[in-house]
Amino acid sequence: MTLEDYILQHIDEEPDYLAKINRKTWVRQINPRMLSGHLQGRILSMLAKMIQPTNVLEIGTFTGYSALCLAEGLTENGTVDTIEIDDELEEFILENFSLSPFKEQINLHIGNAMTIIPTLDKIYDLVFLDADKCHYSDYLELVLPKLRKGGFIIADNTIWNGKVVEELKHNDKQTEEILHFNEKVKEDKRVEKVILPVRDGLTLIRKI
Ligand SMILES: C[S@@+](CC[C@H](N)C(=O)[O-])C[C@H]1O[C@@H](n2cnc3c(N)ncnc32)[C@H](O)[C@@H]1O
Repeated sequence: MTLEDYILQHIDEEPDYLAKINRKTWVRQINPRMLSGHLQGRILSMLAKMIQPTNVLEIGTFTGYSALCLAEGLTENGTVDTIEIDDELEEFILENFSLSPFKEQINLHIGNAMTIIPTLDKIYDLVFLDADKCHYSDYLELVLPKLRKGGFIIADNTIWNGKVVEELKHNDKQTEEILHFNEKVKEDKRVEKVILPVRDGLTLIRKI
């Protein structure tokens, strides 16, 4: 038995609708590994329940799995805004949201997060950053003014399969940007930060 198997056997199960979305994603999507999955999903759910957000913003919906995990922590009238650039996923995502108890509380925005974020007129309690790695630093600058003091950003993939400690390969723009993002966050006096070595690395960032 691997350590991951052991952990999965000793944490909460995914709700049935998430297990179904997980399976459907593996059957019907080209890059199913992008989905948060059982362990990370339960961590996102637990963090959201600790934060009890009214407004959540997610950048990078994919098939909707993580948006639904974050929605588990919403206050009664809370909402999740989630942004996905791939319009071919729209129907699949909406079908997935409709399987859950949160379909009325999630707003799906189809388009480029770089152009959609400036149009969102809300102050957020929690932001999950999980879109293209090449723009992580830009997303940070766009969302920080929209995050309440004491609010949190969770940034996914910040250890990038261990590549952050390997020699940087020529033309590896994604690793270069993750390295830049991690340095920028480390030096940023507007926020507190810690990296959880879970799955592909989750950085927890708190606005001071
Ligand atoms: C890693 S997946 C998200 C996984 C999802 N958050 C989960 O945990 O189940 C990243 C998603 O970001 C989307 N994406 C990439 N660039 C984007 C952009 N500029 N604006 C919005 N979405 C983007 C991709 O199409 C992809 O579906």
